[in-house]
Formats: sequence, C-alpha cells, structure tokens
Amino acid sequence: MKICMIGAGYVGLVSAACFSEFGFDVTCVDNNPERLKQMEEGRSPIYEPGLDDLMARNIAAGRLRFSGDLGPAVKAADIVFLAVGTPMRRGDGHADLSYVYGAVEELAPYLDGFTVITTKSTVPVGTSREIQRRLAALRPDAEYAVCSNPEFLREGSAIQDFTHPDRVLVGLDDARAQEVMEKLYKPLSIRNAPVMFVSRESAELAKYAANAFLALKISFINEIADLCEEVGANVQEVASAIGKDRRIGDKFLHPGPGYGGSCFPKDVSAIIRTARESKSPLSIIEQVQIVNDERKIAMAGRIVKAANGSVRDKTIAVLGVTFKPNTDDMRDAPSLVIVPMLQERGATVRVYDPQGQKQAEPLLPGVTWCADANDAILGADVAVVLTEWNEFRALDLKAARARMSGDVLVDLRNIFSADAARAAGLRYHSIGRPVSAD
Ligand code: NAI
Repeated sequence: MKICMIGAGYVGLVSAACFSEFGFDVTCVDNNPERLKQMEEGRSPIYEPGLDDLMARNIAAGRLRFSGDLGPAVKAADIVFLAVGTPMRRGDGHADLSYVYGAVEELAPYLDGFTVITTKSTVPVGTSREIQRRLAALRPDAEYAVCSNPEFLREGSAIQDFTHPDRVLVGLDDARAQEVMEKLYKPLSIRNAPVMFVSRESAELAKYAANAFLALKISFINEIADLCEEVGANVQEVASAIGKDRRIGDKFLHPGPGYGGSCFPKDVSAIIRTARESKSPLSIIEQVQIVNDERKIAMAGRIVKAANGSVRDKTIAVLGVTFKPNTDDMRDAPSLVIVPMLQERGATVRVYDPQGQKQAEPLLPGVTWCADANDAILGADVAVVLTEWNEFRALDLKAARARMSGDVLVDLRNIFSADAARAAGLRYHSIGRPVSAD
C-alpha cells in the first residue's frame, strides 16, 4: 500500500516515519524548502526523541522518501494524508483552513484510481464534507473517499504515542475506504489498539472535545493550586488524592504557568467558535480560555513579587522556554508572555533551553542565550524554572545558589523540593505548595 503524506511537521513526519516502519511505502511531501532539504539529507527538521534513527532506518530500507512535488506521490497513492498546519486564524480565532484547502486544490489534478483522502490535521467539524464538495467540483471524474483520522500523539513522546495509541479514530462513510483504513492500521489493531470507526463529524469533533477537556483539566488544577496557597494545602497531595479516583484519573493534574503549545490554545479557540456558530456555546471552555490567558500574566506577576516587588535592573535566569520538555516547539509557549513582561519591567533576562533556542531566538528578542543552566544562573538575582526539562531536576542547588548574586528560586513546575531549596539557602517559590519560610 502506498501512502502520500502532505505536510512533514510534528505530526506528518512522525506519522510518515511510523507508517514506513510498519512496512508501508511512504512519500512525505512538504513545500518548505528548508525542511525538505534537511529531510532529504536524512535529518529531522524538528526535535523529537528517536525520530532521526527511525527516519534513517526507513530511508535506508527504501520505504520512506521526501519530495517537494506532490504530483507523482498522489498519483501513486492509495491513501493521501493531509497533515498540514491548521493555526488560529487572525481576527476571529477559528481554525485557518487555508493550508488544508490549498493542499486539496494542489492534489486534485493528480488523483488516479480509487484514493482515500484523509485529514490528519485537526480540522473543525464539517471539513471532510467541505473537502468532498470541493473535490467534486475540481474532479467530478475521480474516484475517492474523504475520511477524518485525527492524530492524538504528543510532542516529546510522539513515536511511542503513535505506535501505542490509546485509540485510533477514523471517521468515514465509505465501505471501500474502511477496508483501506483497516489494512493501514492492522499493525496496531493486531496489538489490540482500539481502532474506532465512527462518522466523520464525530471524529472531527472528538479531537477538539479531547483537547478542550485536557485544557480544562489543566486550568482546573491551576486554580486549585491557587486555592491551596491561600488555605495552606499542598496541590501535589490534593492532585494525587483526587487522581486515585479512576473517574478523574491522575494525568494532567500538574499545575504550572498555563497551557501552551501548538494545539491546546488554537483548538480551544476553534471549538469555542464552532460552538458559538452552532448556537450551542461551550461556556465552561470559554472560561478555560480566559483562565489560561490570565494565568500566564499572573505568573509574570508572581516572579516580580518573589523578587521583592520589582525586577527593575535585576537579572533573571529563565530555565526552559519551550511549551513543554522534549520538544523544540515554541508555539504559544507561556514564556512568550512571561519573558517580555519581565523585560518590560526592566529585567535583564538570561535564558537556557536544551532544544528550543533556534526556534525561540526570533521570538524572544533582547534576551541573553546561555550555553547551559549553570551559565544562565551566573550572577542572576532570580532563577525561574519555566519548563521542566529533566536535566534541570539534577541541578545542584547549593552550587546554583553560589553562582547567583541573589537567592530567589521561582519554580513554576514544582521540580524541586522546598526543603532542598531552603537547605541550599534559596528563597523558594513554587506552585500550590506551602511557601518557603524566608
Ligand atoms: P507543522 O506546522 O509542524 O507542519 C505542517 C507542515 O505542512 C509544514 O512543514 C508545512 O511546510 C507543510 N505544508 C503546508 N502546506 C503544504 C502544502 N500545500 N504542501 C506540502 N506541505 C505543506 O504542523 P504540526 O504541528 O505537524 O500540525 C499539523 C496538524 O496536526 C495541525 O492541524 C495540528 O493541530 C495537528 N496536530 C498536531 C499535534 C502536535 O503535537 N503538533 C498533535 C495532534 C494534532
């Protein structure tokens, strides 16, 4: 079976590499010349653990190749995936579908024989139907079925998530397409991964509903963390107690500086738009969006407060700027709100991120980039943990205190223990836990 993957980003490239690992013949098409050049040289243009090796193995086996020309790949394909971006549209906050429909127009002339065309991108409910309508106008003669196959992988553990999914969700209304999709996901269903066939509308909406629910969980625990601070409770104890209840579950109950990333903010915004347009507003999710926006601003305020009320002429070391660890993705990262606010209040900011510097450099002007965490904290009045990269967990706090000129550690990810920080002579501020006695 031949697959054409249009869009070689975090989702498209990982999916393409994993499908080729299953033994399928995959051509990954991208129109970004820089990304294409790197992939043609066998290098991943994104940081994702394990991806370089997976690519190398399958390129060498002749099952995975890259191209800037979708014509031949679409012509030969049994399945064409659309894995292009669906960013937030400026102005109304809906999903911008211009890349999806642009790709549909590009591929239409090359459809040859029965082809399954399926979105892997996150697209609003009704998009499959609209793609079908457009294709019917562009290629009334062609044989195809349009499906929805939303992707649930997480950056940082994308290969594991793709190959061991909680479920595979396929929305379709065509028996021939179902046969093709069953064959495609056989390597997973044989290992007992649930492959669910549902309507296209259900598949499209389920992806947004899942992300909205996860965003809700994060905002919920962030507000509980604030309450913990006021009443003297410890959010980690509260989260672990409620998480034992299987109706609640223990995942996504870590408080922090607010959710970010390439999915939650834009998907929350898009489902709010869909719901309003459908005259069935999601008032809870609208509030989640407000809570999260306010959270990032509040976290900058918390750093200022920890610095005795002012960061003017102070040096702040920021450890981690990506929206989460194990990715270089900077899209909608909380750091993009917090760091500029500190700069506006007169702080000098020194930053270290294990993988994010290249993407972050143009987005965070005026900061000093440092070679590692120890370099970043040198001479700092305040050190802030913004992203919980594992390498920060082993930081020697006593040595860190000695390198700093101040003694304030703001841990927005709760990776250190208050006792250890205090023993190192630091004034320690974390989230939702008893404040360090200064
Ligand atoms: P991305 O921005 O990393 O990659 C999209 C790629 O598509 C880019 O390399 C771009 O050059 C390429 N592209 C755009 N138009 C093209 C065209 N006409 N022909 C060829 N290539 C084209 O995006 P990412 O993060 O991979 O997301 C893709 C979709 O998957 C989005 O809808 C997103 O919401 C969804 N998604 C993303 C997840 C993530 O963790 N990043 C997880 C689950 C879903």
